[in-house]
Amino acid sequence: MNLLCIALASTQLSSVSLSDLNLAPIHQGWGHAMKNRSVTDTVLSINGRKFDKGVGTHAISTFRIRLFGKATQFHALVGIDDNAKVNRASAYFHIIGDGKEIWKSPLMGWKRDAVEVNVSLKGIKTLNLTVDDAGDGIDYDHGDWADASIQFSGRAPETLVPPIEKEYILTPPPSPKPKINGPSRVGVRPGHPFLYTLPITGLRPMKLVVHGLPSGLNLNPSSGLITGRVSKAGTYPIVVTAKNQKGTIKRTIQIVCGDEIALTPQMGWNSWYIWLGQVNDSIMRQAADAMVRNGMIQHGWQYVNIDDCWARVPGSNDRQIGGPTRDAEGRIIPSSKFPNMKGLTDYIHSKGLKAGIYTSPGPTTCAGFEGALGHEAIDAKTFADWGYDLLKYDWCSYQATEKGDEGLKKPYRLMGSLLRQQNRDMVLNLCQYGMGQVWKWGKSVGGHSWRTAGDLGAGYTMYQDGFDLYGRSHLEKYAGVGAFNDPDYILVGNLAGPGGKPKKSPFTPNEQYSQMSFWCLVAAPLILGGDIATLDPFTLNLLTNDEVISVDQDSLVKAASRVAKVGESEVWARPLEDGSQAVGLFNMGEEEATVQVNWKDLGLKHSAMVRDLWRQRNLGKFHGSFSAKVPRHGVVMVKVIGGR
Ligand code: GLA
Repeated sequence: MNLLCIALASTQLSSVSLSDLNLAPIHQGWGHAMKNRSVTDTVLSINGRKFDKGVGTHAISTFRIRLFGKATQFHALVGIDDNAKVNRASAYFHIIGDGKEIWKSPLMGWKRDAVEVNVSLKGIKTLNLTVDDAGDGIDYDHGDWADASIQFSGRAPETLVPPIEKEYILTPPPSPKPKINGPSRVGVRPGHPFLYTLPITGLRPMKLVVHGLPSGLNLNPSSGLITGRVSKAGTYPIVVTAKNQKGTIKRTIQIVCGDEIALTPQMGWNSWYIWLGQVNDSIMRQAADAMVRNGMIQHGWQYVNIDDCWARVPGSNDRQIGGPTRDAEGRIIPSSKFPNMKGLTDYIHSKGLKAGIYTSPGPTTCAGFEGALGHEAIDAKTFADWGYDLLKYDWCSYQATEKGDEGLKKPYRLMGSLLRQQNRDMVLNLCQYGMGQVWKWGKSVGGHSWRTAGDLGAGYTMYQDGFDLYGRSHLEKYAGVGAFNDPDYILVGNLAGPGGKPKKSPFTPNEQYSQMSFWCLVAAPLILGGDIATLDPFTLNLLTNDEVISVDQDSLVKAASRVAKVGESEVWARPLEDGSQAVGLFNMGEEEATVQVNWKDLGLKHSAMVRDLWRQRNLGKFHGSFSAKVPRHGVVMVKVIGGR
């Protein structure tokens, strides 16, 4: 009798409302997940149908829940909340069990009836409920999981809260012997100013000699800075010799003088994620100082980029950011926080670094500052006159005048051609969050890199969404020389927290290794978003592994593709110019896992040497495959040499 009771009790089903789980760890593109309310704090309502219970979110959002294999059924009505109020709202809802999609909604939009979902959760340990942006940006994508509940027997579902991990350093300290880092090819246009600091690690003093410099270029032998102008197009191999007390090294680097200026992805720092609207001249100077002082310059870091909030705000009376936005000639006037733009870029250049600036093709920037609309030509010229080397052009308030892709391309084509007419090289970074599959046409309108999705944000959605959903993968065929997919900044170190106070990256150490590795594998621009002036040893170590960086900066520019996916393990690989392959073994799961790369997936027939890139250590020869234990959300990144 007793036994029967226990058996009955253990199969008894209970039910929990999604809204009764802990919603705090949910990451989303805008606002906070709301209990029994829409994201804008109104009654949950989908095309007129009201709901008392449910969770109101905003794309791109992911809710991760541990089910312990004890859940049986998920039920919900999903749709765009009526309070979105615009036709532009569009999203897909995804239900992912242990890394596999088990349900996907039709395309949901404003004023569409809620769609009912009823799926079995038998045996599933981890559930992901995701609302994506349907590929057109996250604007107004107010996704509701209405009347949502999970049926279970035994242990009740719990919101997945990321574990606390200890930081651990993998990169060995740089050798005291000289080592010449950076890409093997550097581009410049004929007759334009050239500025490149040879990134070289090793004990100082160091003697530098460069043979074969084309006429017009000069080397500063103490800093390694090469400046000047090359008048004739051509490929100029230069032989760099670096010698110190511990040894001598030689390396040939090609200066390619031609049309292409961004031969490998940009590496640098951007002010947004740490300084937001507080950015000013002295912060930028300090960032340049830090890039030199902390040695990042010797690992190839180069750009120091101002983001939004340097101009004035139209109509504002504020002492710092108010006043006329343009002068009598129509030239844009910076806020009082930037009293001397030319002085600032001169300073950055004097450190052997390059400078970047930001604006929008719309009337105002995302933060409401003066934009370029109607002043594109004079703004392009002003940025060039000021001495900038890069422009981030952020869509925001722009209203397309033509339909479809043509409307999306137009402002970028205009700015692309205006920058092209200036007397200096300026890299153009398109920031429009992936609209219209920008990777297919970004280069044709003069862009060198393009954001592939919305802001990565301090909420870090990479793992919650999975690489696929966030549009950061399978874009490899659109990457190439001067054409880079930009999944947003490297979010490590101190970032702006609530109230603008610096707060440590919300990503675990393993996730930080994964981000850096993944960005390098997919040939993404490496732009640090954290505070460069306060990098701790762990973070600096993460950013200065030359073997990892050299994957990003590889001059073949073949971005990695995913060659295998088994459950939540993924293998990404890219060929390198020396004939080897860089391989990332990623574990997207919640537990440590063994991840394997099979030689057949790399096109290899014979045994091959495997080198651990983070640890900079050969692991030996392997036949047929290589496997490694990979921590939760972590990576093992290797180079596979030979084997063809
Ligand atoms: C947008 C961009 C960000 C940043 C801000 C500045 O959100 O995607 O990278 O530039 O604007 O307002």
